[in-house]
Amino acid sequence: MSTKSTEIKSLFEPRSVAVIGASHDPAKIGHTILANIITSGYRGKIYPINPKGGTILDLPVYESIGAIDGELDVACTCVPGKYVFGAVKETAAAGTKFNLIISSGFSEIGNIEEERRIVAYAREHGMRILGPNIFGMFSAAASMDMTFGPGGILPGSVAIITQSGALGLAMIGKTASENIGISTMISVGNKADINESDLLEYLIDDQHTHAIMMYIEGVREGGPLVDVLRRATAKKPVIVIKSGRSKRGAAAAASHTGSLAGSDEIFDAIMRQCGVLRAESIKEGFNLCKFLARTKVPDGKNTVIITNGGGIGVLATDACEKYGVQLLDDTQRLHEIFSPVTPSFGSTKNPIDLTGGAVAKDYSTALGAALENDAIQAVIALYCETAMFDVTNLWEMVAQNHERYQEAGKPIVFSAFGGERIDEQIRALAKEKVPIFDDVYEAVSCLGGLYRHHDHLTNPPLAPEEVELDVAAIEAIIRGARAEGRTFLLADEGHKLMEIVGIRLPQSLVARSIEEAVAHAERIGCPVAMKVVSRDILHKSDAGGVALDLDNREEVVDAYQAIMRSCREVVPHANITGIEVAEMVPPGLELIVGARRDPGFGPIVMFGHGGIYVEVMKDVSFRAVPTNRAEALTMMQEIRAYPLLQGVRGEDPKDTESVIDAILRVATVIRKCKSITDIEVNPLIAYEEGEGSKAVDVRVLLSTSEGGRSDA
Ligand code: COA
Repeated sequence: MSTKSTEIKSLFEPRSVAVIGASHDPAKIGHTILANIITSGYRGKIYPINPKGGTILDLPVYESIGAIDGELDVACTCVPGKYVFGAVKETAAAGTKFNLIISSGFSEIGNIEEERRIVAYAREHGMRILGPNIFGMFSAAASMDMTFGPGGILPGSVAIITQSGALGLAMIGKTASENIGISTMISVGNKADINESDLLEYLIDDQHTHAIMMYIEGVREGGPLVDVLRRATAKKPVIVIKSGRSKRGAAAAASHTGSLAGSDEIFDAIMRQCGVLRAESIKEGFNLCKFLARTKVPDGKNTVIITNGGGIGVLATDACEKYGVQLLDDTQRLHEIFSPVTPSFGSTKNPIDLTGGAVAKDYSTALGAALENDAIQAVIALYCETAMFDVTNLWEMVAQNHERYQEAGKPIVFSAFGGERIDEQIRALAKEKVPIFDDVYEAVSCLGGLYRHHDHLTNPPLAPEEVELDVAAIEAIIRGARAEGRTFLLADEGHKLMEIVGIRLPQSLVARSIEEAVAHAERIGCPVAMKVVSRDILHKSDAGGVALDLDNREEVVDAYQAIMRSCREVVPHANITGIEVAEMVPPGLELIVGARRDPGFGPIVMFGHGGIYVEVMKDVSFRAVPTNRAEALTMMQEIRAYPLLQGVRGEDPKDTESVIDAILRVATVIRKCKSITDIEVNPLIAYEEGEGSKAVDVRVLLSTSEGGRSDA
């Protein structure tokens, strides 16, 4: 069930709220939530609900929802789990729009049935559920703290969506101590109904939200999330912290694409595809949020480092490479700008080294020169503690320069390194919303995040592209395999499928006897390759089921016997249909193109350096499907072996267009053919420009059930 931003507005800006289980006891959650709603200055109607009646915090208590006279936008349920369904029924009957279920005791402890019953009932009656198992929500637009957190949330421009309640509660205190202003903080808990995608719908257009941070543990409905994230990042930065880098799920997968597609790699790739910035830690997430919410995206990327120490300057240079921050390297220009403000024994090459004798005034002069020059779009200012620079001047120097850079709309980050007095200054300045850090990598990471967001804004993703596909013809092949009780395609079926898809394969025929193999080899023309065809042998090379470069009749006969012997030895009970005799394709660059149906994100496509070592090399990239030519090219550029495609050691570049074509074709198959769970072309041999590429082998796995998954 999707939520339109106009509908979800009532969740963030409710006109009336009820707290079901508002307790008389100040030690209970239901009391704290009510107290926080009142203290935070919520201006709508507040209805405390408790069968005992009376008053709580000077508000009259209603004995039931039915006793309320008036409309109810949001109910917050904090009664023990066994009473939640009753509360849901009552609120639904009263026409309540949203019910936030704080209570635990549902799917997180295996009580899935009760959770489903609650959501089904709510949906039937037009009410949406947030949670259960949540800490509630804060909304600056409504001045409403409906959480059982410590209170004192600073209103501001950062929105936080968190799957972990405890972490979210802790973030309340942490954001306040870090002086991070919050537009909304909301926990999704078990995500039984409302999930991150629904909340993002509202936050995309929310004028108060300048940056969004999400803490995610797992993705269930990745397809809609990809769509909404793409729209969100086109308007504001989105930062994601994801835990759970487990590869357990991947280990069970049957294909290369599956085992290479560790859930975290896919998550990472898809977040990049959506223009989302992934933070490695909560600290980095907070830093990015603070910086990106307060900093305008610059027009260009030329950055200079201004320092009083060579070492820290080199560290910053390394950090720039890591985070993709572009340093201005026009030495002539740099000399013109900085020689008047740098001692003769300093350096005007980027990093600009003011040397250890620099004092506050020297920094201000150099920072002023950088500020005024249009060739420079951002600055990293570094300070190592020295006896020459009176530390008491640091605060003023940094604060003043930060302010003038802010006014000019030019990004600046600071890093200062030294003793206790420096640390104190950093803490004080950070409280004043100055991006200053003791670790230079933290400072540069902020700028890197800003630039990644800048790149995404200036190169928005193009519309998805798909190729025409005869799905009915593919379904007919699949029906044939299913009729034999198989959940994979045999070699000849795979070949037919590739023909329909439009990916070139070498000529091949299946032999069921030595004589037939020899006849096929003569028809195709030597040299030929031979491969076992068996429903029980998926990894042919491992079973000794492949022989290459067979030049004559004798070699074909020997290979036939050797393949049969080896396969029978390695997989004794294998049912061997025959041996495929195929045209031996000339050598080229071995690539892999695969696609599968990911449990979280639905259809995904993979590209990488292929061949038999693909799982060892792990040189692959992923995208959510649908995709387009530009993204397919970026996938190629992401792998380490990309220079091989461009041509190295005097080789001509490879036919990347035909490889892009194969990526889009395979992506279209996985999207349109719901019964296919995995498809993998390995190797896809790429030849020189204009000569195309050829699929040497294809493996196709089918879903166990007839209809396949419906997550495309
Ligand atoms: N309607 C309204 N009020 C009701 C009610 C109903 N149907 N049934 C009970 N109440 C009242 C109770 O009388 C009580 O008020 P009182 O203290 O004035 O007598 C109040 O609701 C709370 O009920 P109580 O039984 O005392 O529960 P509790 O406060 O100990 O616990 C929860 C309730 C929801 C907090 C608890 O069940 C729970 O789930 N805790 C975990 C919450 C959590 O961690 N969530 C995830 C956060 S990340």
